[in-house]
Amino acid sequence: MILTVTPNPSLDRTYEIPALDRGAVLRATADRIDPGGKGVNVSRAVAAAGHRTLAVMPLGGPAGAALAGLLGAEGIEVAGVPVTGHTRSNISAVEPDGTLTKINATGPELTAAEAEALLAAVGARSGGADWVACCGSLPRGLPPEWYAELVARAHRAGARIALDTSGPSLTAALRERPDVVKPNAEELAQAVGRPLATVGDAVKAAEELRAAGARAVLASLGADGQLLVDGAGAHFAGAPVATVRSNVGAGDASLAGFLVAGGTGVRALAAAVAYGAAAVQLPGSLMPAPADLVPAAVTTTDDVPLARPLTEPVNRALSSGSREDMRRP
Ligand SMILES: Nc1ncnc2c1ncn2[C@@H]1O[C@H](COP(=O)(O)OP(=O)(O)OP(=O)(O)O)[C@@H](O)[C@H]1O
Ligand SMILES: [Mg+2]
Repeated sequence: MILTVTPNPSLDRTYEIPALDRGAVLRATADRIDPGGKGVNVSRAVAAAGHRTLAVMPLGGPAGAALAGLLGAEGIEVAGVPVTGHTRSNISAVEPDGTLTKINATGPELTAAEAEALLAAVGARSGGADWVACCGSLPRGLPPEWYAELVARAHRAGARIALDTSGPSLTAALRERPDVVKPNAEELAQAVGRPLATVGDAVKAAEELRAAGARAVLASLGADGQLLVDGAGAHFAGAPVATVRSNVGAGDASLAGFLVAGGTGVRALAAAVAYGAAAVQLPGSLMPAPADLVPAAVTTTDDVPLARPLTEPVNRALSSGSREDMRRP
């Protein structure tokens, strides 16, 4: 069973519109509502693969009830922690040429008691989980150390932890030794506080995250594929993709693929890439099903191409989530 934690889930409303005219009343030609949130995405992909998943999240107001209903209809067990604030609704507008405009709400501020109730809900259910996947940024009211506490509690319950977050909440959680962390290139650069130009730069940064406490680092490098750095060394995998429709949620799909395939080693890395490649060929944040995967298209190697320039290098000198936050375990 794979338990997911989504601290700031959403109800995602998508409107198809002829054109985004500022200041006008726009008439949608179609609309839909989907469950949203990074842990929610992981649960959806895990459920689509035929595995059991339990999605833990704060839920409040009518949007929270609607979100629970949508997830239940997809065969996803939900452990909702009731909160006073209302679960957020995010809005997307899609134009005929595929241009996507999003408005993301901030989401409710959680009280200290609600933050503790969410930790307790995860702790109580982690015993039955093979993996606990903690995904996304934290809502207002949860301190940056909240994920660190979550990792500690889930570990105490005997589960392995996968953490997909960024900035101070990632760096603060490393000291609790998460079993795998899944930064993308930008999040990896932010965590080490310097730009990344090559695959070798990403390997060095991943090794630093391991030195700071992460047991394994699954770094997703967009079109360049993925890197797994664990106790056995560094492994690299990629898959060619002819047409990218939407890379939104590709990282979430990758993490789901990695965990469904066992969550360790090269086989899981290959599954992560197969899921990522399938996800980018689907619209929006739609999660791939097993029929969408082409495992034979994935190549893996331990001969990591260190000198290869990244297709999308991270050039900016990133400031927050500084190195000083990374304390040794
Ligand atoms: N342009 C692309 N071409 C081919 N594969 C891609 C592309 N973009 C993403 N992928 C695949 O999806 C994986 C995850 O993508 P990415 O690194 O963009 O994750 P992410 O930024 O964490 O995404 P998100 O947080 O939105 O889910 C990549 O490692 C790769 O396997
Ligand atoms: Mg991501």
